[in-house]
Amino acid sequence: MLPNLSLTLLAGVLITPSLANIQVAAACVGLALVLPGKVFFPNTTPYNEHNSYWSARQDELTPNCFVAPHSASDVSKALKVLRDTKAPFTVKSGGHVPFPSSNVDTGVVIDLSEINGLTLSADKTVVSVGPGNRWTAVAEYLLPEGLAVVGGRVGDIGVSGLTLGGGISWFSGRYGWACDNVREYEVVLANGSIVVANVGTNPDLYKALRGGGGPNFGIVTRFDLETFEQGNIWYKESLHAPTEANEAIEVFSDLAVDGLNDDDLAHPVMFAAYQPALGGNVIQIFRWHATPPADLNTVPAVFEPLEAIPAISEKNASLTVPDMLNVYVDAAGLRKGWWDTSIRAGNAAALQDIIANYGVWAAANLADKPDVVAVLLIIPIPTSTIAQFGKNGGNSLGVDPNTPAQIKINTYITWGSASQDSYMNDIATQLVGQTEQIAKDANAFDDGFIYMNYAERTQDVYGRRGPDIIAELKATAKKFDPKDVLKNQWKGYFKV
Ligand SMILES: Cc1cc2nc3c(=O)[nH]c(=O)nc-3n(C[C@H](O)[C@H](O)[C@H](O)COP(=O)(O)OP(=O)(O)OC[C@H]3O[C@@H](n4cnc5c(N)ncnc54)[C@H](O)[C@@H]3O)c2cc1C
Ligand SMILES: *[C@@H]1O[C@H](CO)[C@@H](O)[C@H](O)[C@H]1NC(C)=O
Ligand SMILES: *[C@@H]1O[C@H](CO)[C@@H](O)[C@H](O)[C@H]1NC(C)=O
Repeated sequence: MLPNLSLTLLAGVLITPSLANIQVAAACVGLALVLPGKVFFPNTTPYNEHNSYWSARQDELTPNCFVAPHSASDVSKALKVLRDTKAPFTVKSGGHVPFPSSNVDTGVVIDLSEINGLTLSADKTVVSVGPGNRWTAVAEYLLPEGLAVVGGRVGDIGVSGLTLGGGISWFSGRYGWACDNVREYEVVLANGSIVVANVGTNPDLYKALRGGGGPNFGIVTRFDLETFEQGNIWYKESLHAPTEANEAIEVFSDLAVDGLNDDDLAHPVMFAAYQPALGGNVIQIFRWHATPPADLNTVPAVFEPLEAIPAISEKNASLTVPDMLNVYVDAAGLRKGWWDTSIRAGNAAALQDIIANYGVWAAANLADKPDVVAVLLIIPIPTSTIAQFGKNGGNSLGVDPNTPAQIKINTYITWGSASQDSYMNDIATQLVGQTEQIAKDANAFDDGFIYMNYAERTQDVYGRRGPDIIAELKATAKKFDPKDVLKNQWKGYFKV
């Protein structure tokens, strides 16, 4: 036993890193040969431009080279070199995952930013989107046509990561998540083959890519997204003092079960932020409506109940989709992390207890760390949205289309120092556990769905989806990557 163990340790500590370094060096040289002018090495301006990420946990990494393919066939060439050299790699679209996943220290990053085409179909029902696009570019392209797609709510986010993991949108009440509105994918498989996946061709791959994430299945080089007619979008935000918190939470909680289901063009989000100087948890409520009221002194009927809650401050506007994408910018810099769970909607007392407990947690764990910001982000998923999860043969989120309304509860933290990384993961994990326990005690816990795009890498994203979806995703990964190339070499993010 012992000799084997020490051999394994030796291999892990001594042999593997140097082997990986040799493999990566060979990969970068090989890539520069097959894709001349598209490979970038450290200490150059293009390398530094590609090495730009939203969270410092990714931004601080230094890959051996970036390769920026211009087409699916370039991606295919790159993947073949990586497969043959066995080098570790990853893929970057918008670079907005908080933890290492679209960047890598020893390895190659395939940066898709040059594959950024946008083409509207002749009948204008589908827009073909290159995987290196951000949502602002998509929205600006569609604006003159009076069209929009189900996409992100912040303009700088990548089309790829958001759509592959799910994609919560202002328009999700009517159309479901972004993944439910992809008509076809073009995908480069592990062996370099370029295939399409839609409801009739490679339906298993099509289903896996809708909410199952990218890194297990292939590199998507085109998303065909369904369009719909869309003019301005209306929003209003309001800030409420701790004394109003419980009332605000109750009204918000009621909306998720009684309101949103009857008006599928409405979408609200709530933040809770512990503010000791103000005496507790302040509540911020954002609401959007896809049809602005004719008179901006009024609000869409669905949001009327929120008007009765006294507010410290509030504002509203009717904006184009590209302008709306710029309202809530979350700047790059600092270390970031989020930890996700969800409870059943319709239990206001449980949500009040969860938010009160978060305040106690923040006071206990962060009082001496004034530079750390930790908030709860609360997003209802009404039944109107969940029903859309069954569209086109169903997605891979693992949430049955008949599931009652849910509320996502996300713990979002930003901090400054790498030395605090494990502390933040520890306390956030504790808080998620407490949140789920409060929900269980109140009989308001279903499967605790964890949204991949809001999850930390320590969370069991696939585990919560149940054995059927896991088995399906594993089989699809094996079918399209029989030699485990992606499984072994594509670093970071979630592996089924
Ligand atoms: C400020 C902010 C606002 C946000 N708003 C929303 C929102 O409104 N709704 C919502 O649902 N989520 C939202 N998110 C979460 C967002 O969906 C995730 O952070 C998402 O993963 C970001 O995608 P990306 O392309 O920018 O990330 P990246 O880090 O570039 O990619 C994410 C993962 O996908 C892989 N990948 C990238 N491109 C491909 C590809 N073409 N094929 C296969 N795999 C690929 C990468 O290797 C990586 O593992 C927001 C995040 C931030 C930071
Ligand atoms: C929207 O904002 C305007 C001022 O910018 C204000 O007059 C109006 O009352 C606001 N409407 C609502 C519903 O808050
Ligand atoms: C590539 O992989 C796919 C999926 O496993 C397979 O169907 C296809 O035949 C492979 N192509 C080549 C050229 O090996």
